[in-house]
Amino acid sequence: MINKFKSHFKNVQNFKTESQIDLENFRIKYLGKKGIITDLFKLFKDIDQKDKKSYGKALNDLKKEVNHKIELISKKLKSQQKISNKNFDLSRPGFPFEIGSSHPISIVKNKIIDIFSKIGFGMSEGPEIEDDWHNFTALNLPKYHPARDMQDTFFIKSNPEFLLRTHTSSVQVRYMEEKTPPIRVISPGRVYRNEAISSRSHCIFHQIEGLYINKKVSFSELKQTIIYFTKSLFGKSKIRLRPSYFPFTEPSAEVDIYWGLKSEVDHRITKGTGWLEIMGCGMVDPNVLSNCKINPDEYSGFAFGMGIERIAMLLYQIEDIRMFYENDIRFISQFKKSNFLN
Ligand code: PHE
Repeated sequence: MINKFKSHFKNVQNFKTESQIDLENFRIKYLGKKGIITDLFKLFKDIDQKDKKSYGKALNDLKKEVNHKIELISKKLKSQQKISNKNFDLSRPGFPFEIGSSHPISIVKNKIIDIFSKIGFGMSEGPEIEDDWHNFTALNLPKYHPARDMQDTFFIKSNPEFLLRTHTSSVQVRYMEEKTPPIRVISPGRVYRNEAISSRSHCIFHQIEGLYINKKVSFSELKQTIIYFTKSLFGKSKIRLRPSYFPFTEPSAEVDIYWGLKSEVDHRITKGTGWLEIMGCGMVDPNVLSNCKINPDEYSGFAFGMGIERIAMLLYQIEDIRMFYENDIRFISQFKKSNFLN
């Protein structure tokens, strides 16, 4: 009997495996319901009383040895598994990760802010829901002024003193009220006008306006600033200023740049003239300065404003303004910064 235990003991001690399945079979062979140890336990009741003690001890030793072996091997197998998990090739290319791109309006807006920041202009933003004072009255557009009709306005139904701003000039009023000259500021933002939606116009669009107030600011400084801007953004410096009218500037002008007539598209977008209108501008009306508590006898200034969509449509040759708001991923993912502007 003792010899039988010895040989089992030896088999257990010598058992080796690299596989989880073999280890499980080993466990079943010894500890399973019909396993060796279970059988040996069953024999216990038939053993002579005097041998019971040594039999029991040998059986327990064998069981301990089996458990010990199982524990040892399963630990080993687990640690091997960990190592093989660690064995990734870290230099392998990863799964492609889609990086988003900026919206073309943001790209153009940031580019314009950048251009003006190089000549000392800061940036200021204001609310999209405005009051009558900042959008109209302070800008030399008192109630019932006919020029209010130039900007078809969305009023807030419950209180028509408030409206969706029709231009970002309202931000400039806020800025002038708060700061003292010299002022050099650019204000970009979304504006709203009750216009029919077509490929050329929308009821929501973006503007960017500039304001410079100082002592003895002249019209020629305005012109030079615009030339610097068109050269930086379009690489073109041939411009012309056409007399125009805005209630908040006097004199006022519209700026055209000479775009050229090289391609068929050039012909189409300039209607065969080679010239393109890009912004409105003028010398700030003295009434506006007084409304904002700036002494017009001491200070003068210029302002200009343009539609960001219009500029983006020119730069990227986009033919339909509605594309900007449809969020079609096929459209907006084309505008990687490096594609056009950098
Ligand atoms: N606010 C004007 C508009 O919306 C543009 C402009 C700004 C014109 C500043 C002159 C000076 O059309």
